Amino acid sequence: MTKKPKSKSVLVLHGPNLNLLGTREPGIYGRETLELINRRLLSSAREAGIGLECFQTNHEGVMVDRVQEAGRQGVGFIVLNPAAFTYSSIALRDALTAVQIPFIEVHLSNIHAREPWRAQSHFTAVAVGSILGLGGRGYDLALDYAIARLQSRR
Ligand code: DQA
Repeated sequence: MTKKPKSKSVLVLHGPNLNLLGTREPGIYGRETLELINRRLLSSAREAGIGLECFQTNHEGVMVDRVQEAGRQGVGFIVLNPAAFTYSSIALRDALTAVQIPFIEVHLSNIHAREPWRAQSHFTAVAVGSILGLGGRGYDLALDYAIARLQSRR
């Protein structure tokens, strides 16, 4: 069932394998767990009076469904780390353009400084902007922007 719309809310969407943060290739992704990142985001949003939900899935269709639900809920902004779907998921990109919710693409690592195929994101061209290579801090910066944008909307 679709939940009640929240006019000023942010959805943070984490793609596949990001549930392993903390132990997954720490030399690339750092030692911070997803739970710690989410907790920090929830506390910043609460302080700003903005609703926030964090959602992680390893499944493409589930991610598409969550974006569609965000559209029905009236979510105002999405912070998205598509992880490996960055390179493969036209379905997720189409869901984002269908719901017309502005979003920032976040990657913990600098995808331009890694294997050349990692630099080819399906999302960058339809995102408001991208934040790369700043580790978990990238999510905080994206949320700061989202909060300022939602608060300036009356
Ligand atoms: C990532 C970068 C992607 O290339 C990779 O597939 C991920 C994580 C990042 O946050 O740096 O799973 O999106």
